[in-house]
Amino acid sequence: MKHNQHHIACENVSQSYRSGFSSTVVLDDISLNIEPHSSLAITGSSGSGKSTLLHILSGLQKPTQGKISYGELNLYGWRTRQKRLFFRHTLGMIYQQHHLVMEMSVLQNVMLPLKIAKIKKAKAKALDMIEKVGLAQYSHYLPSMLSGGQKQRVSIARALVTNPKVVVADEPTGCLDAKTAESVSNLMFDLVKDQNATLIIATHDLDLAKRCNNHLKIINGKITK
Ligand SMILES: Nc1ncnc2c1ncn2[C@@H]1O[C@H](COP(=O)(O)OP(=O)(O)O)[C@@H](O)[C@H]1O
Ligand SMILES: [Mg+2]
Repeated sequence: MKHNQHHIACENVSQSYRSGFSSTVVLDDISLNIEPHSSLAITGSSGSGKSTLLHILSGLQKPTQGKISYGELNLYGWRTRQKRLFFRHTLGMIYQQHHLVMEMSVLQNVMLPLKIAKIKKAKAKALDMIEKVGLAQYSHYLPSMLSGGQKQRVSIARALVTNPKVVVADEPTGCLDAKTAESVSNLMFDLVKDQNATLIIATHDLDLAKRCNNHLKIINGKITK
């Protein structure tokens, strides 16, 4: 299992931030394992370090100390090319704010990761994914013409269109009302399951957290079950 490329191990990770002469410890010697195809919810109060931990796990931020590995590969020891391939093919990200390109249509937004990864048949693949998120008749709309829930559906389509092995979602329902949040999270869980991906979610939505195989809470820089 350890050598599976999609087994994620976080070993003795600490993150502290400096401001002036003082330094704040946000994550304090955290170790955890994430099995392939499982789902993990990370909860904790605002400012507890959820986003920081997600960024560290997804290769966006090298921690002050500790190691992240995907299978036997050390995420922060990779060469630029390996890392580029990782971002293009292994990882899909969903944010609280949709972060869509506002000047581009739904179709163009969903095609973007395919174009960057130079994946063929980008248009057909993007249209297929747009249909899966229930927005077939909106593919030529600009994001500004869509509701919050629809925008989040587009960002789910964009995150999953490359068939990533690991999907990381930071408060994916944080800006949505309860009913919309539920339908958006149903969609996210269904698609992640279809694609057999691993899902890591930071959320303070306990209903969302309950749907995951594992649930960890960050309290004072430590994780508890
Ligand atoms: N780049 C940074 N520089 C300094 N402090 C930061 C930085 N990023 C986050 N922090 C601090 O780390 C703590 C955890 O932040 P964050 O991971 O965003 O928490 P959460 O996502 O749980 O709300 C907060 O106190 C925040 O102010
Ligand atoms: Mg956060």
